[in-house]
Amino acid sequence: MARLNLLEETRFEKLPVSVYKNSREASLSVAARIATLIKEKQAKGEQAVIGLATGATPVQVYAELVRLHREEGLSFKDVITFNLDEYYPMQPDAVQSYVTFMNKHLFDHIDIDKANVHIPDGTLDLADIPAYCVEYERKITALGGLDFQLLGIGRTGHIGFNEPGSAPNSGTRLVTLDDLTRRDASRDFGGKENVPTKAITMGIGTIFKAREIILMAWNPVKAEIVKKAVEGEISSDVPATYLQLSDHVEFILDEGAASELTRFNTPWLVTDCVWDSQTIKKAVIWLAEAVDKPILKLTEEDYNNHGMAQLATEKGPVYNINIDIFNQLQHTITGWPGGKPNADDSQRPERAVPAKKNVIIFSPHPDDDVISMGGTFIRLADQGHNVHVAYQTSGNTAVWDDDVLRYLEFATDFIKSLDVETSKLDALYADTRKFIAAKKPNQIDTEEIRTVKGLIRKGEAIAGARFAGLPDEHIHFQNLPFYDRGKFSKEVSYEDDVQQTMELLRKVKPHQVFAAGDFADPHGTHKVCFDIILEALVRLRQTDEWTKDCWLWLYRGAWHEFEIHEIEMAVPLSPQEVIRKRHAIFKHQSQKDLPVFPGDDAREFWVRAEDRTSETARKYDALGLADYEAIEAFIRWKLD
Ligand code: F6R
Repeated sequence: MARLNLLEETRFEKLPVSVYKNSREASLSVAARIATLIKEKQAKGEQAVIGLATGATPVQVYAELVRLHREEGLSFKDVITFNLDEYYPMQPDAVQSYVTFMNKHLFDHIDIDKANVHIPDGTLDLADIPAYCVEYERKITALGGLDFQLLGIGRTGHIGFNEPGSAPNSGTRLVTLDDLTRRDASRDFGGKENVPTKAITMGIGTIFKAREIILMAWNPVKAEIVKKAVEGEISSDVPATYLQLSDHVEFILDEGAASELTRFNTPWLVTDCVWDSQTIKKAVIWLAEAVDKPILKLTEEDYNNHGMAQLATEKGPVYNINIDIFNQLQHTITGWPGGKPNADDSQRPERAVPAKKNVIIFSPHPDDDVISMGGTFIRLADQGHNVHVAYQTSGNTAVWDDDVLRYLEFATDFIKSLDVETSKLDALYADTRKFIAAKKPNQIDTEEIRTVKGLIRKGEAIAGARFAGLPDEHIHFQNLPFYDRGKFSKEVSYEDDVQQTMELLRKVKPHQVFAAGDFADPHGTHKVCFDIILEALVRLRQTDEWTKDCWLWLYRGAWHEFEIHEIEMAVPLSPQEVIRKRHAIFKHQSQKDLPVFPGDDAREFWVRAEDRTSETARKYDALGLADYEAIEAFIRWKLD
């Protein structure tokens, strides 16, 4: 065991963990440690031998090292680096190679001697790999071993590319990538089928010999695997658990990646809690799930046996706590997502007045509206509200190339049938066909192809919104510029997007805004789309009176749902509404069967949507509330 854990709070944690507010602060501190190591070594006239990782996680560390070099004179002249891994096979000049990655993020911007840089060679003949790996290890050993090793963690629990099943004493070698790892990499390669199946990686034994090991993880996406690595049993199923055996390892996490650790997720199990209303709600719902009982049947004994005796004493008797939480959950349920006219709304999620509300649903991609809140969308329209929908981006990235040809053929044939000149279209078609035939994975499409793909999605979005009952003039295809701009430049201004959104909001003057509240991927389109809406609303609040009556509701994207204790409005769907919603999703034909970016979930979007809403309904039922077919969930973002 790495150390004696004396703190109560962290008693489930089997290695040292430091949690930072965000990945930026954490990255700065890691970069500072690396810089100190380099300088200490330099002062002694020695070289620093550093193991490096690639991927999204270390990018900010490298950016800070580059800054330290440029602005504070940190020199890498005496630094020798060994990268953890490289895909196999892989040409060093390929966009996805780790050589390209390291040059782009670090080596091209610092004064390192390229002869001191080592990255496993993805171009070797298979037969030459074993000897190459032995030599890679020998070089590290000859230099006195790694002073420092930087690590990320994959969702399989891999470190380097040591996938589940790797031995604790494994050395540098050729490995087969796990399917989940390849799916996670599929965006970089333009589809999982283009991701190599193999990689050359340093072994766990190699990593282990480093004198200091820092594993970093950001984002709630990593929270589950981080919990297993930190609190789980040591097992080859989660190779990162081997790090528990090291005396010089530390995990550096942001709050999102740490969120599943016991001290944050269920703090009552390890420490005395401050029992505020949100913690009580979370704990009681957790308890009901843990003992598999409805809330109103929870007993004092259940509380005492699950770390909640303090709550029972401070706020009990427990039956009163149970009733209070039950009522809170009951009050989240409403069949009137736009407010119930002429009803007492003191215990309802939405206001009764005005009875007919102006509503705008923002959909980051053209199908998020129906996938994530299709039932509520249909209900709002059915209940007579003045509903608008705004498709924020064209979503052109997610359309298959062969659909482009199909639609162009349709357009040409149609125009020909009218006996109209088509030579321009014929030429465009020929060029497009040639481009697609020679297209490399992840190559950016021509402007014309992007337009056709965007139009395909526009047609589908309009069909979906019409199906939900909207008139054409309430359907807005914003086509925000940041979406395509991001493909060509790193410019991060969203000013034109914000202006466009403000203009639309001014036109609609909504009482309700629905937006996708997906914050798991800080660089993802959903997060950017949300930030644009928020910025637009914040600015409008300075000048426009109607904003005082405007409530912002968040729904979740296609993947995760809010946790039950977070939900503030739960809209139940009847079996018929579930089917209507399904048909609205079916209007998005280009995304059906096999979307271009399925992510890590093989289910079709409509299946995911239905599984998610029926799961929420099941959870409400299990807690002792009514048994519905499906529930769509929302939380309210307070603008004040
Ligand atoms: C990269 C590597 C991998 C990554 C891990 C996390 O050299 O060896 O173990 O550290 O897959 O990847 P990101 O940081 O992209 O989430």
